[in-house]
Amino acid sequence: MAARHFLTLNDMSTNELENLVDHGSRLRNEWRQGKVRDSLKNRVLAMIFEKSSTRTRVSFEAGMTQLGGSAMFLSPRDTQLGRGEPIEDSAIVISSMVDAVMIRTFAHETVEKFSQASRAPVINALTDDFHPCQLLADMQTYREHRGSIRGATVAWIGDGNNMCHSYINAATQFDFHLNIATPEGYEPDPKLMKAHSDRITLMREPEEAARNANLLVTDVWASMGQEDEQKAREKAFAKYQINKALMDLAAKDALLMHCLPAHRGEEISAEMIDHPGSVIWDEAENRLHAQKALLEFLILNRLD
Ligand code: CP
Ligand code: NVA
Repeated sequence: MAARHFLTLNDMSTNELENLVDHGSRLRNEWRQGKVRDSLKNRVLAMIFEKSSTRTRVSFEAGMTQLGGSAMFLSPRDTQLGRGEPIEDSAIVISSMVDAVMIRTFAHETVEKFSQASRAPVINALTDDFHPCQLLADMQTYREHRGSIRGATVAWIGDGNNMCHSYINAATQFDFHLNIATPEGYEPDPKLMKAHSDRITLMREPEEAARNANLLVTDVWASMGQEDEQKAREKAFAKYQINKALMDLAAKDALLMHCLPAHRGEEISAEMIDHPGSVIWDEAENRLHAQKALLEFLILNRLD
C-alpha cells in the first residue's frame, strides 16, 4: 500500500481530521495521567530541518520517545542534502531506513518531490506555503476549550502567510468561517482564496474581522526567510496588532491563538499572551499530542 503523506490538511478527509484531533486529546489525557504507551516501539522518525524550530523539533522528538520510538535530527549542514544530492535520491534512501519523515523547508515543492519518491509517510512540518501540523494543534485546542468549531467565526489578523493558508484549508475542512484582515500587498495566495471563497472573507480593517469572532489568530509579520523585509513589514502591519482593544470587539468568550514564536509589541501586545482568552500555551503543548496522533495514524494506519 502506498504511504499516506501529510503535506496539507487536504491530504485527510474531514472525518479523519476530526478523529485525529480527538485522538490527540485522548493522548494528552493519558500522558497527563502518567500512562505509558509504546505504540511506536522500534519505529524511527527522520526529521529534516532546513529552517529553525523550537516547538516542532521538541514535540516530534519527545513524541516519538513517548510512544516508544526514536527520532533523528538531520540538518542540511551535516547531510548530503546540503551538498546538492537530489531530493528524490535522498527520499528513496532515507525512506528505506525509517518509518516516517518530517520535513521543514522553504519551497513547498520540496516536500512534494520528497513525498513522491518516499516509501515512508512524509509530514510537512512547515514550508513557505503551509503549516498543517500547527492547525492540528490549534483545532485540538479550540475543541478542548469550546467544543466543535463548526459554524464559528475565526479572525486571522496579519500576514497572508503559511499559517493563514493552512487556516484557509481548515475553514473548509472543519467548517468555520474565516475573516482575514491583511494590509494591501500581503494577502494570501489568490488561487487558494478563490478555491475557498465560500468559507473566507478578505477584509482590510482588523476591527471588522475581529467583531464577534469566536477565535482571534495571528502570527509574526516577517516569517522565516523574510528577515530582510522586517522594517518594511513593521510599517505595513502597524495597525494589525492583536491588543486588548481588538480583543474587546470579539465575542465575549473568544479565544486567542498564536503559533509562536511571538514578537511582543508587534503582531501581539505583550499583555495579550496572558489574557484570560489566550490559550497560547495549551496550543503549543498540543503540538506534542496532535502529532503523536498523526504519527500513529500515518505509521500504523489506525487511531485507537
Ligand atoms: N509554531 C512553530 O512551528 O514553532 P517552531 O518554529 O518553534 O517549531
Ligand atoms: N509564519 C511563521 C511561522 C513560524 C512557526 C514562519 O514561517 O516563520
